[in-house]
Amino acid sequence: MKQFENKVAIVTGGAAGIGKATAIEFAKNGAKVVVADLADATGTVSAIQEIGGEAIYVKCDVSKDAEVKALVEKAVSTYGAVDFGFNNAGVELGGIPLDEVTVEEFDKVIGINLRGVFLCIKYEAIQMLKQGKGAIVNTASAAGIVGVPSLSAYTASKHGIVGLTKTAALDLGKRGIRINTVCPGAIRTPMLEGTMKNSEAAAAQINDSQIMGRIGEPVEIANAVIWLCSDAASFVNGISMPVDGGWVAK
Ligand SMILES: NC(=O)c1ccc[n+]([C@@H]2O[C@H](COP(=O)([O-])OP(=O)(O)OC[C@H]3O[C@@H](n4cnc5c(N)ncnc54)[C@H](O)[C@@H]3O)[C@@H](O)[C@H]2O)c1
Repeated sequence: MKQFENKVAIVTGGAAGIGKATAIEFAKNGAKVVVADLADATGTVSAIQEIGGEAIYVKCDVSKDAEVKALVEKAVSTYGAVDFGFNNAGVELGGIPLDEVTVEEFDKVIGINLRGVFLCIKYEAIQMLKQGKGAIVNTASAAGIVGVPSLSAYTASKHGIVGLTKTAALDLGKRGIRINTVCPGAIRTPMLEGTMKNSEAAAAQINDSQIMGRIGEPVEIANAVIWLCSDAASFVNGISMPVDGGWVAK
């Protein structure tokens, strides 16, 4: 019997990168997966079906209250429960010094990265409280722990997730829900490849900051998420765990 047999996981930002890799790992561990993304995530669903798993794609903009509520309702109407939530969808706005960031750009990043995670936690928790149990993992970043130059909105949004995780753990811990966050370093995904292509300074900084001499792979974040959701992490609550090859140890 696989450890997540008969369990249901929601994964946001599941079309690509870290979300796709984690959706596949949830399926390998036996979970049924609700793959949510603004972009087409049917490729992730097919990859899960090819390994004998069960998944559906739900189009969802995590920054929109009604769409996140509908996402959780769809998970429940399809699979009957929500046992795990991986709130991972995010966007980056790199390479722009703070004094040049517009209010619209700042609000967009905060709306997706921070309000999006808040909305996902809220509606997943409402369902999990009915079930009496659940585990939630959010994706912040090494930029949720340390400052990164020319990445103000993103860094603010990711620090916000770290704070939100602490308060959510205090609010939900006695009621059966654990909530934690992963803080990835530089991981080989479309987002990182875009950043490195757009800005030579960012590419140089990312390469220089690799303590282990390499960029991470999406599955290395997925493995941490699976562990945080598992019973092996049954007393782990409210943490924001770097999975960054040592980036924030500097
Ligand atoms: N790749 C890295 O080096 C790195 C490092 C630290 C943190 N992160 C974080 O990891 C998470 C995943 O990023 P990734 O690197 O896999 O990037 P990615 O761009 O490959 O994947 C992000 C996914 O989020 C989706 N998305 C964007 N806006 C959305 C919205 N409003 N609603 C729903 N889905 C939306 C995108 O369509 C995409 O599929 C993000 O939160 C990112 O900030 C990534």
